[in-house]
Amino acid sequence: MATLTLKLVSTLLFTIFYLDSTLQTPSAETYIIHMDISAMPKAFSSQHSWYMSMLSSISDTSKHVYSYTNSLHGFSATLTASELEALRNSSGYVSSTRDHPLRVHTTHTSQFIGLSSSSGAWPASNYGEGVIIGVVDTGIWPESESFNDQGITKVPSRWKGKCMYGTRFNSSSCNNKLIGARFYNKGLIANNPKLKISMSSPRDVSGHGTHTSSIAAGNYVRGASYFGYATGVARGMAPRAHVAMYKAIWRYGVYSSDVIAAIDQALQDGVDVLSVSLGMSVKGIFLEDDPIAIATFAAIEKGIFVVASAGNDGPLYWTLINGAPWLLTVGSATTDRKFEGILTLGSQVQISFASLYPGNFSLRQIPLVYMDGCESVTELKKVKFNIIVCKDKLSISSQVKNAVSAEVVGAVFISGSSISESESHIRSSFPAAFIGLRDGQTVIDYIQKSSNPTGSFQFQKTVIGTKPAPKIDSYSSRGPFPSCPSILKPDLLAPGSLVLASWSPISSVTKIRSSLLFNNFNLISGTSMATPHVAGVAALVKAVHPDWSPAAIRSALVTTANSLDNTLGPIKDIANNDLPASPLEMGAGLINPNRALSPGLVYDATAEDYIKFLCAMNYTTTQIRIITKSYHNCINRSMDLNYPSFISFFNNVYSNSNENVVQEFWRTVTNVGEGGTNYTAKLEGMEGLKVYVEPERLEFKNKYEKQRYKLSLEGPKWLEKVVVYGSLTWVNDDGKYVVRSPIVATGLVLESP
Ligand SMILES: *[C@@H]1O[C@H](CO)[C@@H](O)[C@H](O)[C@H]1NC(C)=O
Ligand SMILES: *[C@@H]1O[C@H](CO)[C@@H](O)[C@H](O)[C@H]1NC(C)=O
Ligand SMILES: *[C@@H]1O[C@H](CO)[C@@H](O)[C@H](O)[C@H]1NC(C)=O
Ligand SMILES: *[C@@H]1O[C@H](CO)[C@@H](O)[C@H](O)[C@H]1NC(C)=O
Ligand SMILES: *[C@@H]1O[C@H](CO)[C@@H](O)[C@H](O)[C@H]1NC(C)=O
Ligand SMILES: *[C@@H]1O[C@H](CO)[C@@H](O)[C@H](O)[C@H]1NC(C)=O
Repeated sequence: MATLTLKLVSTLLFTIFYLDSTLQTPSAETYIIHMDISAMPKAFSSQHSWYMSMLSSISDTSKHVYSYTNSLHGFSATLTASELEALRNSSGYVSSTRDHPLRVHTTHTSQFIGLSSSSGAWPASNYGEGVIIGVVDTGIWPESESFNDQGITKVPSRWKGKCMYGTRFNSSSCNNKLIGARFYNKGLIANNPKLKISMSSPRDVSGHGTHTSSIAAGNYVRGASYFGYATGVARGMAPRAHVAMYKAIWRYGVYSSDVIAAIDQALQDGVDVLSVSLGMSVKGIFLEDDPIAIATFAAIEKGIFVVASAGNDGPLYWTLINGAPWLLTVGSATTDRKFEGILTLGSQVQISFASLYPGNFSLRQIPLVYMDGCESVTELKKVKFNIIVCKDKLSISSQVKNAVSAEVVGAVFISGSSISESESHIRSSFPAAFIGLRDGQTVIDYIQKSSNPTGSFQFQKTVIGTKPAPKIDSYSSRGPFPSCPSILKPDLLAPGSLVLASWSPISSVTKIRSSLLFNNFNLISGTSMATPHVAGVAALVKAVHPDWSPAAIRSALVTTANSLDNTLGPIKDIANNDLPASPLEMGAGLINPNRALSPGLVYDATAEDYIKFLCAMNYTTTQIRIITKSYHNCINRSMDLNYPSFISFFNNVYSNSNENVVQEFWRTVTNVGEGGTNYTAKLEGMEGLKVYVEPERLEFKNKYEKQRYKLSLEGPKWLEKVVVYGSLTWVNDDGKYVVRSPIVATGLVLESP
C-alpha cells in the first residue's frame, strides 16, 4: 500500500483557572458590568467618561477597575450589593457578572463543560478511575506533573502494553498514570532512509502529544499557567484514568504506516478509548484509503471508543476529515475565557485588547507617538523609545515587521479589519496592542489633543465568564464529510480554542523579541485540543457503563450535547458574523458530560451495521475487505445506519420538476433509563420542509427494550437554501430525559475533488 503523508491537526490548546481573589472588603465584590453603548448620552466624550460618571453617582470612582471598550462594552468595579443594585437601575445597564470567585482552583475547560467535584459525571464515574485512554500523537513528556500518579489506582491486570526503551526513555519513565508508551518510525525511516532521528523514543520533543494526553487524563497540577495567563490548577477531563502514548507523529513527517501500526498496537494492548488528533487531508478519498478510518474499524469491533478531530481547514463546507461513521468526530469551540492586555493612556482612559504577550512592561507612562502608516523603519527607529501608534494602510503584518526591525519599546496597531484578535497578533513577541477603529480613534484624538501624550501597557489579564460562549471557531472544519456525506458530521463540539495544558519543556512556546521561551504549559488552539476533551469524557461514561458499545457512548454524547450557549441563545459561528451555527458546523452542540451519563435512550449500532451501510453505499467487496479485514457478500444492505443524527440532500439541481421528494430514515432506540417510560417526539426547525415522525409516541415497558420509528422529510428536488436545520427530540413523560438529534437538509453538491 502506498504510504501517505498525514496532516497533523493542531494549533493549540486546554485548561484555565481562576486567580486567587485579591483582598477586598468583605462586603464588596468585583463585578464586570456589561453596558449597552447605544444608551450612552451624547454629552460624554467616551465610554470611559460615561462609566466614571455613572460610578460617581452611586459610589466613588476609586472603585473603578477597568473600562472595556473592545472585548466587551462596560467596565469592572468593586461594589457593595446596594451599589450594584443602584447600578442595575441605571440606563444602559445590561448585566453584571462576578469577577473570579474566591479560592476556586480549577481547570477551566472542565468547568466550562459542567464538570464539578460536588456532583455529576466526575464523582459518579470516580473521575474515570481504571479506564485506559490511548493517544496517538507526538509522544509524551513523562516527567510532566500532569502524569504524576498520585491517587491513581494500579495498572489494570488486563493491560498488555509497555513502556518501550528508547532515547531518554525506559520502563521507569512509566508509572500508574502513564502505563504505556511506544513509538513508531519505521515508516518514516523507510520513506527517508538518510534521516537521523534524534529522539528515537516515546519522548515528546514537540509538546503536542503531552498537551493532548494531559487534556484527556492529566492529573491535578497546582500553579499551572502560561506566563501569568490562565493561572490555576490544571487537570484533564478524566483525572484518574490511565494514559498510554503511541508516538507516530514526528517533526519530519507522519506516515500512514506508522499511524496504523500505532493504532494496531493500541488495540492489542487493551485501551478502552482512543484519541486521534491527526488525519488525512485529501478531499474525497474513499474510506479505504484513509488509514485512520481503516485502522479504527477494528477498534469498534473490539468495543473501543474512538474519537478523532474534524480538522482545522474551516470554515468552508466539505472540509471535514475523520468522518468515518464509526468514529466520533469533534469540532472546536471557544470558551468563556479571554486573555487581555490593557493600554492606559495618560488621560487614564483604558483600552483592553486580546493578548498573550508573555512579558512585562514598565508601569510608568512613556511617550505615545502617532506614526500614521508606520511605513519607514528609519523613521520608527528615531522614536523607538516611545510607544508608536500605527494605523492600517497597507497590511498590519508589514507594520508589525517594521516595528520589530526598529526595535520599538511598544506599539499600538489600529485596524478596521476584524483581525485584531487573530492568534498571530495576540501572540506578539513585543508589547503591542491590536485594536479596532473606534478605540483607535480614541487614541489618535488623545494624542492630538494632548501636549504630552503618554501610555503604558499591562498584560497577563485573564477574564472569565465572557458571553456568548461557546462559539464555533473559524478554523474548525465543516461538514459534510466528502467521503461519506450521508452521515451528519461533525458529531459535536468540545473546547479547543486557547486551551492550557502540559507541554514539552524542550519545545519553545513563544518568544520575547528574538529569545525563545520555554514552559511546562502551553495555551494553544485546534480541533486537536477539542478531541481529547471528548476522549476524557468518554472515559467517564465508560467507567459508569463499561458494557456500552462505542455507538451507544457516541449516542449518549451526541443526544445530550448542548445546542445553546451561555446566554441560552443558539451557538454562534465566528466565521459567519456570529450568526447561529448549523449542525454542519457544530454537530449536536457542546459536549455535556453530566447529562451524557444518563441519556435515557441510545442509538446503538454494531460492526455488522456499518458493513451493511458500506454495502448500501456501493462499496465493492474489495473496498469493504480493506476496511473490515473480511469478506462480505453484501446480501444485506441498508442506508439506515442507526445514527443519532440525520442529514438529507435535496440537491438535484437539474430537476425542473415541481414535485416534492420524500426521504425516509429508520431508527431504533434502546431504553437505557430505569424501567418503563413513554417518550413523545418533538420537532423543531426545518423551515420550508414537511417533517413527520411515525409513531410520535414510543412506549417502553422495560429497560433495554428497543423501539423503531421513521422520520420523513419532504422537500423540493433542489433546496434553494444551502442548509435548513432543526431537530427531533424524544422527551419522556416526566421530562427527565431529553434525547435530541440534529437534522440537516441541504442543497449542497460535492464538486469532484
Ligand atoms: C431601583 O428601582 C426600583 C424600581 O424602579 C426601586 O424600587 C429601587 O429602590 C431602586 N433601587 C435603588 C438602589 O435605587
Ligand atoms: C531510565 O531512564 C532514567 C531517566 O532517563 C535514567 O535516570 C535511568 O538511569 C534509566 N534506567 C535504565 C536502566 O536505563
Ligand atoms: C514579569 O514579572 C513577574 C512578576 O514580577 C515575574 O515573575 C516574571 O518572570 C516576569 N516575566 C518576564 C517574562 O520577565
Ligand atoms: C448504489 O447503486 C444502486 C444501483 O446502481 C443505486 O440505485 C444507488 O443509488 C447507489 N447508492 C449510492 C449511495 O450511491
Ligand atoms: C442478513 O440479515 C438476515 C436477517 O437479519 C440474517 O439472518 C442473515 O444472516 C444476514 N446475512 C448475512 C450474509 O449477513
Ligand atoms: C405508557 O403508556 C401506556 C399507554 O398509554 C400506559 O399504559 C403506560 O402506563 C405508560 N407507561 C408509563 C411508565 O407511564
